[in-house]
Amino acid sequence: MDLPPTAHPRPELTLVPRPRRLSPRPGRFRLDRTTRLRVAPGAEPAADLLRTYLTPATGLSPEHADDGTFVLALDPALTGLGEEGYGLTVAEHGVLLRAARPTGLLRGVQTVRQLLPSPVLAPPPPSGGPLPPVSPPPVELPGVEITDIPAHSWRGMHLDVARHFQPVAYLHRFVDLLALHKLNVLQLHLTDDQGWRMPVAAYPRLTEIGGRRTESMIGPAGSDRFDGRPHGGSYTRAELAGLVAHAAARGVTVVPEISVPGHVRSALAAYPELGNFPDRRLDVWTRWGVCENVLGVGDHVLDFFRTVLDEVMDLFPSPYIHIGGDEVPTREWESSPTAIDRAAREGLAGPRELHGWFLGRMAEHVVRAGRRPVAWAEDGTTLPLSCTVMSWRTPEHAWAAARRGHDVVQADHRRTYFDYARGPGSGEPPAQPGHATDLRSVYGLDLLPRDGEAPQAGRVLGAQGQLWTEFVPTSRHIEYLTYPRLCALAERAWTATDDWPDFRGRLDGHRARLTALGVPHDTLDDHPVHATV
Ligand code: ACM
Repeated sequence: MDLPPTAHPRPELTLVPRPRRLSPRPGRFRLDRTTRLRVAPGAEPAADLLRTYLTPATGLSPEHADDGTFVLALDPALTGLGEEGYGLTVAEHGVLLRAARPTGLLRGVQTVRQLLPSPVLAPPPPSGGPLPPVSPPPVELPGVEITDIPAHSWRGMHLDVARHFQPVAYLHRFVDLLALHKLNVLQLHLTDDQGWRMPVAAYPRLTEIGGRRTESMIGPAGSDRFDGRPHGGSYTRAELAGLVAHAAARGVTVVPEISVPGHVRSALAAYPELGNFPDRRLDVWTRWGVCENVLGVGDHVLDFFRTVLDEVMDLFPSPYIHIGGDEVPTREWESSPTAIDRAAREGLAGPRELHGWFLGRMAEHVVRAGRRPVAWAEDGTTLPLSCTVMSWRTPEHAWAAARRGHDVVQADHRRTYFDYARGPGSGEPPAQPGHATDLRSVYGLDLLPRDGEAPQAGRVLGAQGQLWTEFVPTSRHIEYLTYPRLCALAERAWTATDDWPDFRGRLDGHRARLTALGVPHDTLDDHPVHATV
């Protein structure tokens, strides 16, 4: 029996995102010091992840035993579950978690985590704090039968660490919260006009010079006020490798983003020869908005960025590599004899076409390395078909790109940009001007064209939330803007159902988990606002 949409018989079964099928069962399974895991070959990573969640709050770290009652099993014959689906049965005398693939088990572990008493989700005390209880309170899972399969394969969240740097320890937490909601992509926005955060061995000045700016604009683009405070930071290779491993252990892929040929002022500050006017000395940008300075189009610039991408691909195993592509003013190219000449030699109609040409060269390089390029697209018409289009303007752009034959990730800014205010209230902190995107707007995200045309629908890989951080300096502020809007995004990307009251009810049940994790979750329901579409 499936759970009727609006019936929530027990708050502990109010899972987010909603499983495809869920039936309550009688009884409860008690985890205690006698509990053993039966870990089938290939299921060890899921068992390790389960222990990672259980041990800090409960002191329990169940070992493997061949007669263990909590079974983690891989069964490749369960092909209907796909790459990420899983089945979970919790009964009084045992738990069975099964999947066809290891990633499915990792998703199932997150469901087990949500079924645990919410205090178990609380982060471990800081070192030096109290140890886990010697006699933990009863840790029980409610009886349930779940079969769960995601509707979409790309369920992403983007984080801009270029405008405001965040230490890697925070990124670990950020990833873990994505995993709790069964998101599977962290797109890490590593470079922009205002900062370059990823070290590249061949070009150390990218982080040494490009990683710091002297100050930051106060207020939105066009302001003339600055804070006078230097801002900077960059990751080490070891930190990024550690983040990739932490994410992989949770079934999350870190998709690196290196922006070209615009949003490059930090690189131009470090290596002026990459610019259209190499004699100009530029600083790392201290303003917000769209910067006029873009990359030059000489062979040395292409080679430089091929080397950068090689190092990126060496560090990040992600099948997808994001190459930026958004907001590229063409004025410099139109006034540069070198760029005009290059456009002519390449047979382009004019220097404006250098935008698509440049991205085409980078996409080619990524494809040659066996990876898939991803790019932001305004209208997407200039991108090679090898590029997955991250469609940020309107749903119609997304469907048009899919019709042209691109794979598409839906990133409609009115519904997925969490840097917009969460509502119109005057009590909201300063945010990206333009729109307010409340929870209901995020839930209203379209993942299928309204006409439902099958071939184009099949090209829509999924959806992604975005957090640009011009106005978001702290991790607390990141979470204030991200939650609970990310819960709505995760719901839409994981399930094919469209049932706002049901989601809203389950979100209320989910709040206890967010509270235990220290994640803000108020929803401004007193001030509903709907996106102007
Ligand atoms: C974007 O918001 N410029 C992709």
